[in-house]
Amino acid sequence: MTKTRVAVLISGRGSNLQALIDACKAPDYPARIVLVVSNVPGAQGLLRAEASLIPALVIDHTDFDSREAFDDALDAELREAGIELLCNAGFMRLHGEGFVRSWWNRQLNIHPSLLPAFKGLHTHARVLREGVKITGSTVHVMRPEMDSGPIVAQAAVPVLPDDSGDSLGARVLMAEHRLYPHALNLVASGAVRVEGELVVGMTQIKDQAPYFSPPFDEPL
Ligand code: GRF
Repeated sequence: MTKTRVAVLISGRGSNLQALIDACKAPDYPARIVLVVSNVPGAQGLLRAEASLIPALVIDHTDFDSREAFDDALDAELREAGIELLCNAGFMRLHGEGFVRSWWNRQLNIHPSLLPAFKGLHTHARVLREGVKITGSTVHVMRPEMDSGPIVAQAAVPVLPDDSGDSLGARVLMAEHRLYPHALNLVASGAVRVEGELVVGMTQIKDQAPYFSPPFDEPL
C-alpha cells in the first residue's frame, strides 16, 4: 500500500509522537513518519525519533528574527522531505497564517480538551476550576486561529472527584495516545475529508472505539 508521508512537529516530551511511531509499525497503517522536527533543542521526543531511526532535526525558533522566517525554514525542510501531511504533537509554537494556508487541510493538531471548550494553555487546571465533569482531547485540522479547525476525532474522559491537574492530565494523555493514531488513520486513509469546515466521512474505523476511554468503555 502507498503510505502517506508524515512529519511530526514537537517541542518536548513526544509521548504522542511515540504513539504515532508505534501505530505506524502496523503493515496496514496508511501513514509513515519520515521526519520529526523540534523547535526546541534537546527535546525528549528527538530521542524517540532517533531510537526508531526516523530522521529528526531541530529548527530553533530563537535563531530567527520573525515567526515568518521560522515558518519559511520549516516549510523548506518539509518540502525537501516530500511531506504530504503534518502532525503537530505538543508543538508549542504558533504558525503564521501563511504557513497554515500553505498546509491547508494537510496539518493536524492535538489539543488536550474537548474543543471548542478550553482552548489555550493550562486546560486541566481550568477544567477543574470550572467543575466540568467530562473532558478529553481533540484532533483537529489546523486553522490560523489557535486550537480551532475542523474536528477529526475526540476522546472523552471523566473528571473524577479527587482529581488534581496531574491525575487528570495523565488520564487525558492516555486517551490521546489512542486518539491521535486513530485520527491520523482516518485522514491518511482518506476515510474522512474536510467539507465546508467540517470533517465528514467514515469517522470510525472498524473495531476501534476511541471516543470514550476508561471507565466508560471498559472497567478501570
Ligand atoms: C499533549 O497533551 C497535547 O495534547 C498537547 O501537548 C501535549 C504533548 O505531549 N498539545 P507529548 O509531548 O506528546 O507527550
